[in-house]
Amino acid sequence: MVCKKGEIKLIPLRLNNFKEIYNLQEQSGESPWGKESLVHFLKKGSGSGFILYKEALGIGYILARKIQNDLEIISLGILPDYRRMGLGSILFKEMEKCIISGKRAKLFLEVNNNNKKAKSFYKSMGLKEIRVLEKYYKADDGYEDGLMLSKVYI
Ligand SMILES: CC(C)(COP(=O)(O)OP(=O)(O)OC[C@H]1O[C@@H](n2cnc3c(N)ncnc32)[C@H](O)[C@@H]1OP(=O)(O)O)[C@@H](O)C(=O)NCCC(=O)NCCS
Repeated sequence: MVCKKGEIKLIPLRLNNFKEIYNLQEQSGESPWGKESLVHFLKKGSGSGFILYKEALGIGYILARKIQNDLEIISLGILPDYRRMGLGSILFKEMEKCIISGKRAKLFLEVNNNNKKAKSFYKSMGLKEIRVLEKYYKADDGYEDGLMLSKVYI
């Protein structure tokens, strides 16, 4: 266990968490990963993550990977009933500790430019807009723009 806040526990992601990650991604509205994707991410892709539990229930997760001297947030979600309680912030700040302890220079990520809630969340975490990624995400009726965000530490 990495940290404990009341009945909330933050646990480092393991290979056998694949079903939980799939369910959390699906319920958070993020594209769910199959077992193979998570295994590849953790074993070959310099990936890591955390799951947030309320007692035995997984209620949120974060996935990130190292790229040279930087860290990229790949996926983050909190179950709808548990949003706006500071839990996304707990997950994000735990990842930030990895940046600081690993002496990494920068954190970056891509978000759908239409995802106002996530943009507001990342702004509150200190990320700045770097550039628009035109037609970056496939949508039902075409493509939607992405936005690259970044936070510099060193
Ligand atoms: C984005 C997400 C992870 C935020 O998690 P959360 O636990 O609700 O975030 P927090 O409670 O820690 O919020 C911290 C701050 O972010 C901002 N914020 C979070 N949700 C917001 C919303 N819906 N609208 C406006 N601002 C918001 C606020 O400034 C908030 O502080 P406040 O509550 O004191 O005003 C969550 O909304 C989610 O899972 N969304 C669906 C998946 C997703 O979009 N993931 C990101 C893809 S890159």
